[in-house]
Amino acid sequence: MIGLFDSGLGGLTVLQRVRERLPLVDVLFFADQAHVPYGDRTHEELLRLLRANLARLDEHGVDAIVMACNTSCAIAERYGWPCSRAPVIDLIESAALAVERAGFRRIGVVATAATVGAGSYGRTLRNHITGIDVVEVPAPALVPLVEAGLVTGAQSRAAVAEVCSHLPLDLEALVYGCTHYPLLEEHFRAALGGVALIDPAVVQAQRAADLLGDRNRTGGAAMTTYLTNGDEGAFRDAVARLMALAPGV
Ligand code: DGL
Repeated sequence: MIGLFDSGLGGLTVLQRVRERLPLVDVLFFADQAHVPYGDRTHEELLRLLRANLARLDEHGVDAIVMACNTSCAIAERYGWPCSRAPVIDLIESAALAVERAGFRRIGVVATAATVGAGSYGRTLRNHITGIDVVEVPAPALVPLVEAGLVTGAQSRAAVAEVCSHLPLDLEALVYGCTHYPLLEEHFRAALGGVALIDPAVVQAQRAADLLGDRNRTGGAAMTTYLTNGDEGAFRDAVARLMALAPGV
């Protein structure tokens, strides 16, 4: 079984990619909705939540932890990864691999305020790719919209357009530095035209498949267990709505 966690619904975008690559494994997905949004929290709080979330997944006996929260990865990049029994696949490392493979050099990253404040994306991308130009833009308005189910519609479109207005005009690619944002893809596409949109979850899922190897082919029961410490009814409805949108899940 593999474990994923996020502050809320954003991690489902990683789960979708994982399911495309790993259709047979059992998955445990935990949404820490009692503490969403992470992006507005202090580094100290985020480190405490990261420790608790890793420990929770370890307690369930997962074989690997596939990170589905950039903000937690940003904190770990800054302060070091807390110990966990299961190996952890870092989402920001996957983002850097995705950018490196695509060969882009002028990159924008939209992320939570905490992620941008930690500076982890810029550091990781510059460590991987010499001569890369990275602009990081915080987007604190977007996670609450997604959590409220406002994925389509004028309010989300305007919020995404506002975030994108802070990006340079000569970008080659934009990285979704928060797992909630791929749910707003139509608005990013509308705001940014031909700019490539990079979802680190694609490489993240590929790395998870590489790590699990044969265990995926020989299977589990293809079961997904969803847990939240927030409103269970609202979470169940959101999972049904969002995962139904996802082809192949
Ligand atoms: N979806 C998470 C991320 O990738 C956290 C968003 C939040 O709760 O602010 O950073």
